Amino acid sequence: MLSRLVLALLVAVTVTGPAVTAQVRQAKAPMVEVFKTPTCGCCSKWVDHIRDAGFEVRATDMSQEELDKVKAKHHVPAAVHSCHTALVSGYVVEGHVPAAEVKRLLKERPKVVGIAVPGMPLGSPGMEVSGIKPHPYDVLTFDKTGNTKVFATIKP
Ligand code: CU
Ligand code: CU
Repeated sequence: MLSRLVLALLVAVTVTGPAVTAQVRQAKAPMVEVFKTPTCGCCSKWVDHIRDAGFEVRATDMSQEELDKVKAKHHVPAAVHSCHTALVSGYVVEGHVPAAEVKRLLKERPKVVGIAVPGMPLGSPGMEVSGIKPHPYDVLTFDKTGNTKVFATIKP
């Protein structure tokens, strides 16, 4: 009986040990799941930007059609579409959003579906072009009904 209990405890320790470690690691660096098309270079540059900021990234390449389905499934309004869509801690992050704003989103946790940088503004992370002056742009929040609000104005 006792040896059975000891064995059960041992199993419990073995099973929960790595899981707890993974949870602690996740608290530090949430996983960002990125959906993109294989041919778009700026998406990969944004992935590098997010990774450099300390996030773990899992990127999946797909056709534009499949990507549009991902956007529709996660309620990304057509007006804020960009080249890639990401999921992190229950939020949607659309387009070239600066890592600092993703971190603020996860800290403040507003009641929105996600945040977006519509289109591909020159000078946003992953859209830097040497010799061309970066454009100011807005990071917007969006909800399920397609309402958007300014979350941040970025002047690179
Ligand atoms: Cu892009
Ligand atoms: Cu891209």
